[in-house]
Amino acid sequence: MQIKNITIIGSGTLGIRIGLQAAISGYQVIFYDISEPILDQAKIVMDKIMRQLIKGNLLTEEMKAAALSRMSYTTDLKSALTDCDFISESVTEELSIKEKAWKQIGELAPAKTIFTTNTSYLLPSQLATISDRPEKFCAFHFHDVFYARVVDIMPHPTTDASLIPLLQELGKSLNQVPVIVKKESPGYIFNFMLMALLGAAGRLKTKDIASMEDIDRSWMVNFHMPTGPFGIIDNIGLDTAWHVVKERDDVPSQSFAKLLKEYIDAGKLGEKTGEGFYKYPKPAYRDVDFLKG
Ligand SMILES: NC(=O)c1ccc[n+]([C@@H]2O[C@H](COP(=O)([O-])OP(=O)(O)OC[C@H]3O[C@@H](n4cnc5c(N)ncnc54)[C@H](O)[C@@H]3O)[C@@H](O)[C@H]2O)c1
Repeated sequence: MQIKNITIIGSGTLGIRIGLQAAISGYQVIFYDISEPILDQAKIVMDKIMRQLIKGNLLTEEMKAAALSRMSYTTDLKSALTDCDFISESVTEELSIKEKAWKQIGELAPAKTIFTTNTSYLLPSQLATISDRPEKFCAFHFHDVFYARVVDIMPHPTTDASLIPLLQELGKSLNQVPVIVKKESPGYIFNFMLMALLGAAGRLKTKDIASMEDIDRSWMVNFHMPTGPFGIIDNIGLDTAWHVVKERDDVPSQSFAKLLKEYIDAGKLGEKTGEGFYKYPKPAYRDVDFLKG
């Protein structure tokens, strides 16, 4: 089947990026979210990302204009799905919210539509049945889309096998490197490894073994990385990280979830709100003196 029309369900941090890349790659993209103010905010963030991409020579003004002409926004799910070939769902990382979204999608999407979720840690089999099209359902999980370009393809036991090569081709057309997760596994490949790092950083901090800055410094200096674990969480979003960590019942994860919740309750969700563990747009770890200790 030929994919032309892509619908993004959930136009937050990741939905915006996936949809923008899809529009840049020549697809017609509809962004859906639950309210107009959220979509207005998405347009502001979209503009900011495009400016960064132009600055980094990853996008030209001509490409930007062409991408903009292929994008539209709506809060009406029915119209978002009318002629949809492919869904990329990036709603809040909470099972009950995703279940509600997929139930509605299953009722409204045309028979041709391929269903994919961008969930970070849930399994596609937790959502496939409620979508009412388990054979058309697969996880298609992005990282940051423009700089971290791996896309995980993770089927569940009854995903139609013919979807896999199609998703590999789609991933390549979206300038991603597709990788296949052969068996359902929470966190796919990269996130499974990342979780171990972030969990360890959280443990060092909540047990007051080291400061956040020194934890980040250790990682950044030794691995020549631009960001440490707490900077990474700021980028992911503290709320998204919290949704994952709070589900773990071991004591270190619960302590880390408590710390994240304190920041969230203070409105510090990370880069997207201007403050998380660090303040943006100029976080301390980007200061030239930060790595000197
Ligand atoms: N943030 C990351 O770095 C990252 C990376 C890879 C994957 N993901 C995954 O992407 C998904 C979204 O994460 P995010 O960071 O973009 O979250 P976000 O909070 O920035 O955005 C979520 C969006 O979903 C919307 N939403 C909630 N209920 C909805 C519904 N019923 N229908 C449509 N939209 C709805 C919210 O209004 C919000 O705009 C999660 O599953 C997350 O695990 C996130």
